[in-house]
Amino acid sequence: MRNSSKYLALLSLILLFSCNMSTTNLSDKIVIAHRGASGYVPEHTMESKAMAHAMNADYIEQDIVLSKDGIPIVIHDIYLEEVTDVALVYPERSREDGRFYVIDFNLDELMRLSVHERIDLSTKNAVFPNRYPLKKTSFRLHTLEDEIELIQGMNKSTGKNIGIYPEIKNPGFHRKQGKDISKIVLQVLTKKGYSKKSDACILQCFDAKELQRIRQELGCDLFLTQLLEFPQSLDDLEKYASFADAIGPSIEQLIMESVGKSLQEKKEFIERAHKLNLKVHAYTFRRDQHPNFENFEDLLEFGFNELELDGVFTDFPDTVVSFLEN
Ligand code: G3P
Ligand code: CA
Repeated sequence: MRNSSKYLALLSLILLFSCNMSTTNLSDKIVIAHRGASGYVPEHTMESKAMAHAMNADYIEQDIVLSKDGIPIVIHDIYLEEVTDVALVYPERSREDGRFYVIDFNLDELMRLSVHERIDLSTKNAVFPNRYPLKKTSFRLHTLEDEIELIQGMNKSTGKNIGIYPEIKNPGFHRKQGKDISKIVLQVLTKKGYSKKSDACILQCFDAKELQRIRQELGCDLFLTQLLEFPQSLDDLEKYASFADAIGPSIEQLIMESVGKSLQEKKEFIERAHKLNLKVHAYTFRRDQHPNFENFEDLLEFGFNELELDGVFTDFPDTVVSFLEN
């Protein structure tokens, strides 16, 4: 009897521990599903998000652009033609520059488009030829709200606590079109239960002025990530630390030799960020694109063990999850 109650107590402890392990914890290294499990299913489709959830990514990313009727849509670019059949469905709706802008279409019009693998506009070929076949699909665009409902719904049904990692795209462009994208996105996040740093949501933006405004003027209390783009300077860490909680440098800045900084300098940069209490979430780790490294595992080894990154954006969340588990 005593033995079996001891066994039960031990079992409950193990269960409790494994439950805690499956919740998001920013003190651990995190895996961010870049545009979903986009290495397997076209980026930013609901299907790619469901797959990323099943693969146990810690966070799932949403790039956000506004529609004409001011609704946050999950899509990487302000343009449509690299990932949808817009040129076939609405051939007359491009602007003078020949581009089809998300912001020129209402939500119901956007929902008529079919989403496919990303193409290179100059060749019309898939950017990543070994991924999902490039053909007409039944995949559709969707709103930020719809995606949050999917992730929260799957969190409930699986008992996981997978977070969201939305990115506000091109606030300057939206402002010129008369729209305050940050305000609108924050309203949706608050409505869906994300408003505090402890909530499973990290908000990111490349535009430092805008991220600072989000924190100071719009009073946002979420965990914020300042994205950095090669060849943007890595020298403004103190400034970023005054309003952000993490930085998101590109793999080119941190890893590729073309940046010209020594390994020691790169490591010191990350140490400096850590001393300023900034986490470092680097992008984008791809199994089918790992310049300077023989294989993906070597790149992950370098990123996590040598540079001591706190998290990575990846198109292949399953591979990175199993790398970290092992
Ligand atoms: O947001 C992190 C990473 O996704 C930034 O690059 O161009 O894929 O949005 P991009
Ligand atoms: Ca992004």
